[in-house]
This record gives sequence, C-alpha cells and structure tokens, in this order.
Amino acid sequence: MVRCGEECILSRPFSIHQLNNKNDIALFFAVWKGGKGTNWLSQCSIGNTVELLGPLGNGYSIKPSSNNILLLAGGVGIAPLCFLAQEAIRRECSVILIQGATKASRLYPNTLPTGLELVTLTDDGSSGKKGMVTDIIPEYVDWADQVFACGPTPMYRTMTKMRELKDKPVQISLEVRMGCGFGVCYGCTIKTKQGLKQVCKDGPVFDLESILWDELT
Ligand SMILES: Cc1cc2nc3c(=O)[nH]c(=O)nc-3n(C[C@H](O)[C@H](O)[C@H](O)COP(=O)(O)OP(=O)(O)OC[C@H]3O[C@@H](n4cnc5c(N)ncnc54)[C@H](O)[C@@H]3O)c2cc1C
Ligand code: FES
Repeated sequence: MVRCGEECILSRPFSIHQLNNKNDIALFFAVWKGGKGTNWLSQCSIGNTVELLGPLGNGYSIKPSSNNILLLAGGVGIAPLCFLAQEAIRRECSVILIQGATKASRLYPNTLPTGLELVTLTDDGSSGKKGMVTDIIPEYVDWADQVFACGPTPMYRTMTKMRELKDKPVQISLEVRMGCGFGVCYGCTIKTKQGLKQVCKDGPVFDLESILWDELT
C-alpha cells in the first residue's frame, strides 16, 4: 500500500514489480486521468520519500513440479508478472509471456527478464499480433504446467468460459478497490467457493475457478 501524498486519505495498492539484491523495490504503474494517487506518484522525483506498507496479502505460487510457465499480462498487469517471470527463470522453468495492450504505446516499455519467450498482441494491431491475450491462449495452454494471469476483470471472465483452461491450474491477481489493505475495513470482500475472502489479506492471488464471478461487482 502506497501513501500518495496528503490529498489521498487512502493509500493505493500496487504490486511489487521488481526487487533487486539490495531489496530495493520497483513499482510499475499506469497514471489515470483524474487519478489523484497515480498522478501524485508520477510527480515524485529522485530523492523524494514515498511511504510504503507491505508486502501484504499473498503472491503467486509456482509448484515445485512445474517446468512450463505461461504468463498472461493484460495492460498494466505486466507489473507483478515481470517479478514472477524473474523468479520462474531463476528456478530454471521455461517461461512464455503473452503481453497484451490496447496499442503499441501502452506496451511495457522496459527490458523484460532475459530467458523468456515473449508474445505480443495489441487490440489495434499496432505492434505484434492483432487481438487480445485471450484470443491466443488455446495455442499455448497445452504446453503449460501452470498459468498465471494479471489483467482486467473482463479478461478473467473470458478465461472462465474457455474450455481449454478448464483442467489447468490458473492463478489470477484480482484488482478491487481497497480501503485499508490489511484486513480491517472489509471493503475488499468477495465471494468465493470457499466463502467470503478479503482480497487484500487472502489474495490478491486466487485460483481462477475459486471465485464466484457472477457475484463480483
Ligand atoms: C492488488 C492490487 C495490485 C495493483 N497493482 C498495480 C500495479 O502494479 N500497477 C498499477 O498501475 N496499478 C495497480 N493496481 C491498481 C492501482 O491500485 C490503481 O490504479 C490506483 O489505486 C489508482 O489510484 P488513483 O488515485 O490514481 O485513481 P483513483 O482516484 O482511485 O481513480 C480515479 C479514476 O481513475 C481510473 N482508474 C483508476 N484505477 C484504475 C484501474 N486500475 N483501471 C481502470 N481505471 C482506473 C478510473 O476512471 C477512476 O475513476 C493494483 C490494484 C490492486 C488491487
Ligand atoms: S482493504 Fe480493508 S479489509 Fe481489505
């Protein structure tokens, strides 16, 4: 949870994007029109202090038996998947990252971890293949031992309907509005097959099939 200046009463949730040997953390974030927090953060410069609370909640979990890892990044969902890719490569897994964005200028601008295979798509075809991440999942899913996704809720809803993913272990990072970020306000509560869960504390990573998607607003 990142404190975004005096004007934002509530801290804003962000994923750990990168971590180096010195435990320095990097965030990667979209700046929203009218978004007080992300605009404030984008104005910070080198030497400024930013208050963080974390790490909070859970993270993705790679099974020791998994060798082939498929990562699905929708838009700024690339943020935590970069970190996961680094970890999977460190564990000598083969990694394919499917990265989708609305247009070329919204694709991840930095260098991705070496050793992964990258497939790029844009909605308008301005870079890579034309289409959405979900369009090409069927081409890669048989290869994967585990699938990890981070993206907008409509992407997950499409994934729940794909028969190719029915028997695959799929972990997703869910984005909901958060108040406190550490289990006190219950503002992030969702319904799952295992009962009510707090996204900030029990998540944000859940099995795709565990969430009651029709109940999610
Ligand atoms: C667990 C978790 C991890 C996250 N990790 C990241 C991350 O690593 N990088 C990142 O960029 N974001 C991440 N987010 C989303 C991020 O928290 C929000 O984008 C941020 O809180 C927006 O704050 P704001 O004050 O700028 O906008 P707000 O003032 O909260 O919202 C202003 C307006 O901006 C638009 N907006 C804000 N956020 C979004 C959004 N996510 N999608 C679409 N429109 C939006 C809406 O129009 C909204 O009305 C994460 C969210 C969660 C729950
Ligand atoms: S954000 Fe407060 S309980 Fe989850």
